Amino acid sequence: MKKEKDNELMEKIVSLCKRRGFVFQGSEIYGGLAGTFDWAHHGLALKNNLKNSWWKKFVDSRRDMYGIDAAIIMNGKVWEASGHVTGFADPMVECSVCKSRFRYDHIVQSQRQNEDGTYDCPIGETSKIKGGENNQHGLLTEPKQFNMMFATKIGASEDTTSTVYLRPETAQGIFVNFKNTVDAFHPKLPFGIAQIGKAFRNEITPRDFIFRQREFEQMEIEYFVREEDWGKYFEYWRGEMMSWMEEFGLDMSKVHEVEVDDADRAHYSKRTIDFEFDYPFGQKELFGLAYRTDFDLTNHKLDYIDEERATKIVPHVIEPSMGVDRAVLALLISSYAEETKDGEVREYLKLNPNIAPVICAVSPLLKNKPELVEYAEMKVFAPLKAEFGRVAWDDNGNIGKRYRRQDEIGTPFCIVVDFETLTDNAVTVRDRNTGEQERIPVADLKEYIKDKIQ
Ligand code: GAP
Repeated sequence: MKKEKDNELMEKIVSLCKRRGFVFQGSEIYGGLAGTFDWAHHGLALKNNLKNSWWKKFVDSRRDMYGIDAAIIMNGKVWEASGHVTGFADPMVECSVCKSRFRYDHIVQSQRQNEDGTYDCPIGETSKIKGGENNQHGLLTEPKQFNMMFATKIGASEDTTSTVYLRPETAQGIFVNFKNTVDAFHPKLPFGIAQIGKAFRNEITPRDFIFRQREFEQMEIEYFVREEDWGKYFEYWRGEMMSWMEEFGLDMSKVHEVEVDDADRAHYSKRTIDFEFDYPFGQKELFGLAYRTDFDLTNHKLDYIDEERATKIVPHVIEPSMGVDRAVLALLISSYAEETKDGEVREYLKLNPNIAPVICAVSPLLKNKPELVEYAEMKVFAPLKAEFGRVAWDDNGNIGKRYRRQDEIGTPFCIVVDFETLTDNAVTVRDRNTGEQERIPVADLKEYIKDKIQ
C-alpha cells in the first residue's frame, strides 16, 4: 500500500514537471536518451535559485572561499593521478538471455539469490510474474568492473594519448587549480575552493527520474585544513550543510545521516557520511561529506607553504559534495502538497518565496477589457518585473484555472487587477498555501513582496 502511494507520488511529480515546464526527457522527440534530462523554464529557475543560495551562503558571504569554473574536458593524466582510471568503476552483471545490464550491488539488494549462488535476471522475473509471454529469464553473469567515465578523443589523432574524459566529479577541477589559486590569492589555512558544474557518469542503470543520470550537476567544496584539524572541520561542514538544507526548505524529517562502512567508501576517503533522503523510491543518497585526506593533492604532487608554521605541508581536505539535481528532486518532494476542496484536488508546491521559480503572477481579471489589461501591464507587471525578474504574466483561462496553474508552479502570490483597482489603486493578492486574499495598494506591492522574500 505504502509502495503504491510512493509510486503514485513519484508519477505525480514527474507529470507535474513536464506539464508545468520544469523538466523534460532529453532528446524526447527521438525516443529519449536514457539518463539525460532537459531543464525547462521553471525547473531551470528553481535550479538556478538553489545554486545561487548555495553560492551566496558558501562563497559570497565568506572570506575563506574562492570560486572556480574549470573546464569539463581535462588532461587524461588528471584521472590517472586521481585514481579514477583504475578505481572509478561499478560492478556490472549481464543477463545471458536478454543482455540487459545491471549494477551487481543493486541486484544483491533487490533479488533473492539462487541456491547455487547465481541470480536471475530481474526483467525476466517481472514478465513471468505478470504472466507475460516472455517468461524465459536468464541467469546473470559474474560481476565485472565497469569504468563509469565517458572517454572521448581530442584532436584529429586516434591514438591512446588523445583519450580524454568528461569529468565524473567537479572536484578534480578544484584540485588541479590548487596551486594557481594559492599563487593568485595567498589564502591562509583553512580555506576552500568551490565549484558548481556538470559531471558525467556512464551509469549502468540510470533511473528514478533525475536521481541517477548520466549527465548531472554538482556543487562541491574542497576545504583545505591542517591534518590535525580534520575532525573539527568535518563536524563544522556537517552543521553547515544541515543548516543550508533547512534554509532552502527541505523536509528535514526526511534527511538521515548514514556513516559509510570502510568497504563502501570511495577510494580516496577515510571517513564519509552520506546524507540520505526519503525519496518515494526509498531512502537514498542526497549528498556526501568526505574526509579526502591529502590523497588528491599528494597524487597531483601539490603542496603548500604554511607561513604561520614556517613549513611545507600537504593540506588535508574536507569535501561536502551536493548533487544539484538530487537536491531539486528532494525539494520538489518536500514541497509537493495536495488539498481536496469541493470534491476537487488542488496540487501545489509549497516552495519558499525566495527559491520559487516565479515570485508572483500578475493577471487582469478579464483579458478582453483593455483598461484592465493596460493597468495590469503598465502599473503592476512592468514595475514588479523590473524589480524582481521572476514575475509571470498570466491571462490564460479563467481566474480559477490561473490559480491552479500557478499553484502547481509554486508561485507564492497571484496578483489580480480588477475593476475596483481602476478607482482604488489596490489589487487582490492571493496566498498560494492558504488561498486567502488580501487587498494591497499598488504603491505598496514592491515592499510587500520584498518582505516575503527576506
Ligand atoms: N567529489 C565526490 C563525489 O563526486 P559522489 O558521492 O560520487 O562523490 C557526489 O557524488 C554527489 O553527486 C552525490 O551525493 C549525488 O548528490 C550526486 N550524484 C552522483 N552521481 C549522480 C548521478 N548519476 N545522477 C545525479 N546525481 C549524482
